[in-house]
Amino acid sequence: MAHLHLGALYEELQETDSMSLAHEEYQQAIIVFPYSSKINLRVSKLIRESATSQEELNSIETHLRAAIEAADILIEAQKEQRLSMIGIGKSLESVDDGKWVFEPSCYEEIEAGKEASQFLLLFLCQEGRDNDAEPILKQLGYSWRLSPHALHYNPHPVRGPWKNDVDYVRVWDDALPPEMLAHLQSTFGINSVFWKEHHYSPLSPYFSYVHALSPSPGQQATYLDTIIHQLHALATELYPEAAKAKYAEWWAHCRPHSHGHQLHFDSDDEGRRREGGKPRHPIVSSVCYLTEGIGGPTLVTNQRLGDPLADKAWLAFPKLNRYTVFDGSVLHGVIPGRSFRTNPDERRITFMVAFWESVEVIPSKEEIPGSARPFPDLGRTKYTWPMLHQLKSKGKSAKPGHPEPKIAIPTPIESVWEQVSTRHSVPVKIVEEDFSEPNSYDDNESKDENGGRDSVSGVYQKVDAPLPRYNQCFQGF
Ligand SMILES: [Fe+2]
Repeated sequence: MAHLHLGALYEELQETDSMSLAHEEYQQAIIVFPYSSKINLRVSKLIRESATSQEELNSIETHLRAAIEAADILIEAQKEQRLSMIGIGKSLESVDDGKWVFEPSCYEEIEAGKEASQFLLLFLCQEGRDNDAEPILKQLGYSWRLSPHALHYNPHPVRGPWKNDVDYVRVWDDALPPEMLAHLQSTFGINSVFWKEHHYSPLSPYFSYVHALSPSPGQQATYLDTIIHQLHALATELYPEAAKAKYAEWWAHCRPHSHGHQLHFDSDDEGRRREGGKPRHPIVSSVCYLTEGIGGPTLVTNQRLGDPLADKAWLAFPKLNRYTVFDGSVLHGVIPGRSFRTNPDERRITFMVAFWESVEVIPSKEEIPGSARPFPDLGRTKYTWPMLHQLKSKGKSAKPGHPEPKIAIPTPIESVWEQVSTRHSVPVKIVEEDFSEPNSYDDNESKDENGGRDSVSGVYQKVDAPLPRYNQCFQGF
């Protein structure tokens, strides 16, 4: 187990050498405990992140199936042990409502088995192996899944005869002048102090900063304010209602190719602040891509909170200096990058801005990162990263010859959610699933329960059913 813990520590460092050291530790751990669900899961996750060939990528399936099988064996063993304790002729349910006590280490193994099932599903869906995924989807109780058009997206979509008439998402290419783009690329570059000073990892909790678009007299302005104004102008050209915005909340991400971002609604204080019992959304949200081709596309749907499942969605692929702007009230996320990258050290780096009419700024005396923090006071902050944004030039100062921003068209997908078929009834042994989770489409948001766990015969059908529970819908990330 020491190898497992050491491997996890190396992984947390998020550095090139440390990842290969983590891999070595896990390999040692797996020699000692070849049937450990936890170790097999860790190995498969690390391989998923660092694979540089299809062969390497394929090897995760063996580890994931081993993790699932080990957890299943454990559950069976626990059941048998429990049955022998309670005597023949009595069912588990009759004694303790089906709940039985596990050793803590067994519980961890079983949890790892559950996670491995989800990870295997995502892997199969992203590899386009829908027939292999289907029995597992059913076994885990999913009645809907994110469609293959989303999870197995075409990384090189042929541009169709689509009109630029989409209300929900619009896109600029060549959005920023070169000096602004270069500034963002440098201040949010992979080795920037911004990430180090926030102790950022791809699993970091959400943190953001808020700027007033019309700062009060005497308030310090930074070059970041200049860039945000430029982005606001671009957003307003696409969505005139964005002109009402008084605040800009920004955050950034730096993630490996294979990492996604679960579907969610952008909301004030992550949904904790409400108006009339409902969370508040920005007028528009936006994504500025600072790298190209790394990671999956942004998925924007036409689903608002309380709506039936989306029947329309669009993909915006990461492209350098692309700026995607979308309706601030719709469900969206990032699809994990498919396949592998020959250089696993590359990161998908993005700078996001949400434009609000009003949003509460949440100061933190100790400057602990969190939602909607004020931009640090350059004279007092404990951080060095804000200094990187000290004003160095005013206005756009566009160099002659650089391309003007031009409108691009997001890629529509044929279906968003698809119903899981009942064609397969092959028993797949997967650890038991608890469906008592809150019915949430957001970390902090709930929806009404609607509809049961019924499945309808036939291959994937268009969404026309009542809203299923969140945990009946497989998204995989
Ligand atoms: Fe978002």
